[in-house]
Amino acid sequence: MNDNIVLSAVDIWKSYGKGATFLSILRGANINISKGEVVSISGPSGSGKSTFLHVCGVLDPPDRGTVSVGGTDVWSVNESRRAKLRNADLGFVFQFHHLLDEFTLLENVAMPSMLAGNSRRDALESASEILEEVGLSSRGRHFPSEASGGERQRIAVARALILSPSVVLADEPTGNLDSSNSRIVEDLMFELAERRNQAFIIATHCIELARRAHRCLELEDGIFRS
Ligand SMILES: Nc1ncnc2c1ncn2[C@@H]1O[C@H](COP(=O)(O)OP(=O)(O)OP(=O)(O)O)[C@@H](O)[C@H]1O
Ligand SMILES: [Mg+2]
Repeated sequence: MNDNIVLSAVDIWKSYGKGATFLSILRGANINISKGEVVSISGPSGSGKSTFLHVCGVLDPPDRGTVSVGGTDVWSVNESRRAKLRNADLGFVFQFHHLLDEFTLLENVAMPSMLAGNSRRDALESASEILEEVGLSSRGRHFPSEASGGERQRIAVARALILSPSVVLADEPTGNLDSSNSRIVEDLMFELAERRNQAFIIATHCIELARRAHRCLELEDGIFRS
């Protein structure tokens, strides 16, 4: 396998329901993502963008097909290895930030590192370095309820990056933001992709964001068209 490829999904099929409720969503979708690459996925609502990210993110199994992250076939390893891989090799950013309200912003960013077994002290130290990178180092002691929508989303990006994952999967990361905050979060992801050689797959309805990606894929009838 090409060393530069951080995630590869081959011949992914996924359907929901059966009989009258049967829906065939992914019908042989393929993707290869290289280090530092930002790939956008667009397509109409219901075309399967989130479904595809869930399959790649090891959150939901495909009916058929393989997903490899850093060379590991993620659906063939046992559940405990899969959970580790999900935490350390994949970063997630969703439309809603999913930060934990009872923890500070710094602790939220540090969470994946603590879950990976690092000491609280080490985790908080790397979290403060990443907070600096996303321009929020002065806000670490605040709680999610004290941050703006855009700031919370920048924190979610920082949390996704703390363990330097192979790839960050972002599902409508700017879908809940006004245009100026969208732009800030968008710029941040592209800056981080460049500076850290970090790969991102971004599902979005925003045409400007989709077009800005290094590669734009359109999900249509269950497969990707570029
Ligand atoms: N758990 C489920 N059970 C049944 N159907 C589902 C389930 N999850 C998703 N679907 C259906 O699969 C299709 C694809 O959904 P998905 O959320 O992947 O689309 P999407 O492209 O992300 O849409 P959007 O742009 O609105 O976010 C939709 O028709 C959806 O209703
Ligand atoms: Mg979706």
